Amino acid sequence: MSNNYQENFTKVPQPYWLASTPQTEYNSLNDDLEVDIAIVGGGITGITTAYLLKQEGYKIAILEADRIVQGTTGHTTAKITSQHTLIYDRLKTQMGEEKARQYAEANETAIKEISRLIKEKNIDCDFSWQSAYVYTQQDEYVSQLMNEVNVASSLGIEASFLSEIPLPIAIKGAMRFDNQAQFHPRKYLLTLAQDIPGNGSYIFEETKVINVKEGNSCSVITANGNKVIAHRVIIASHYPCYEAMGLYFTRIYPERSYILGVKAKEKFPGGMYITAEQPKRSLRAQVHDNSELILIAGEHHKTGQGEDTSNHYKKLKDFAEEIFEIEDIPYRWSTQDYTAMDEVPYIGHLTSGTPNIYVATGFHKWGMTNGTTAALIFKDLILNGSSPWEDVYNPSRFTPSASAKNFVKENLNVAKHLISGKILPVPSDMEIPQGEGKIIDPDGQRVGAYRDKKGILHMVDTTCTHMGCELQWNSAEKSWDCPCHGSRFTYEGENIEGPALHKLSHINQEDQLNK
Ligand code: FES
Repeated sequence: MSNNYQENFTKVPQPYWLASTPQTEYNSLNDDLEVDIAIVGGGITGITTAYLLKQEGYKIAILEADRIVQGTTGHTTAKITSQHTLIYDRLKTQMGEEKARQYAEANETAIKEISRLIKEKNIDCDFSWQSAYVYTQQDEYVSQLMNEVNVASSLGIEASFLSEIPLPIAIKGAMRFDNQAQFHPRKYLLTLAQDIPGNGSYIFEETKVINVKEGNSCSVITANGNKVIAHRVIIASHYPCYEAMGLYFTRIYPERSYILGVKAKEKFPGGMYITAEQPKRSLRAQVHDNSELILIAGEHHKTGQGEDTSNHYKKLKDFAEEIFEIEDIPYRWSTQDYTAMDEVPYIGHLTSGTPNIYVATGFHKWGMTNGTTAALIFKDLILNGSSPWEDVYNPSRFTPSASAKNFVKENLNVAKHLISGKILPVPSDMEIPQGEGKIIDPDGQRVGAYRDKKGILHMVDTTCTHMGCELQWNSAEKSWDCPCHGSRFTYEGENIEGPALHKLSHINQEDQLNK
């Protein structure tokens, strides 16, 4: 690693999307409020839904726990594709041709809808049409790619099989989808968001929702005790904030992935790429200061599980150096995604018994099109009572051939971590260098300790406040991550993301440890 990269890899990770756009400053909610539709979450789903429904005359309130477009939407690779690696052949087998067609049509329509909104608002957001490729370097995936091309083509997608791709990589085969796209997600969404406040509609930031009560009118309760009365509530908070109803914590699982923003000597040949096989590698370029950044992503793993997180950035760097002559790696960041057991998002009514509460979650890393699809489905359900794509995304569905096996596997994994986390041996060495964190037990009690760059020790109880799993240290992001359902906390114990509503307890043993 050159000195240049070395220095960058010691800095706190930051997404290019956030670094290249201004911070928003919408007020938080400090009073009770009544609107037609309350939307929990200000990512691509929440903002697109609010924009479309305000145009239909509804009064909307977006309630965002942090700042809008800073969560998963602000940490994406921002590919706008109906190509979700290899999915259509499997969907057709597991759910039937009609539902596979719905998924294809929904995601192709989402690409066109984003393009339409960009034209409607004349948004300068680095949008460009691109081809999307899935490639393989292994013989066994060639026939899978050929099958996928045949099924995708039969569903109306422009797909073709290739033996070469524009990237300088030796491959065994590839699949190309045409008329796909990419953009800068914050430039796009922050412009759409500007049209939401006014005439009885609002965006509230730093307004965390902690409960939703269904009725003729729904009540949305915020952490500081305010109540929003709304005829309908849309939960678009990535992880459903109202998870108890619908048992979503048993039906979706969290994964983290990593992204590098690379400057290379070579010009990127265009296109968007992803491997068919593991380890997943994803590539695209992004215009940046009259040149380009190459975004290289991959290394996904279950949140709070696996090897030291810093290794994932290193593996991506090694991969980048195999293909390009690297000049610099000015950006790196990681992201969290949730996946349903059959790998199709849940979009629609939260449960069959909650006609006025809607949910969108489990986008399986394909949030730009699935988030826009969610907005189109919500608009159709609210305006017309039905959507042409509601069956494939129905949150109450059960896909026996995919869901049962994965349901057992993922929930056994949670149970294993719930138990084993309590009995794992704690390292006897209590030395904690600056910038590092680990579990220690100074008093026979498991404690998470991080020593910051000034030498100050920050100690928290590492019992997750969601359902009690033991948290693991994330060395790359300096956070405590839960291996069960993906809650994450800062080293000071503040909530970052996931289902946990409460922060971690502080432990005051610093004096004892510093003796
Ligand atoms: Fe569920 Fe930690 S126990 S997120």
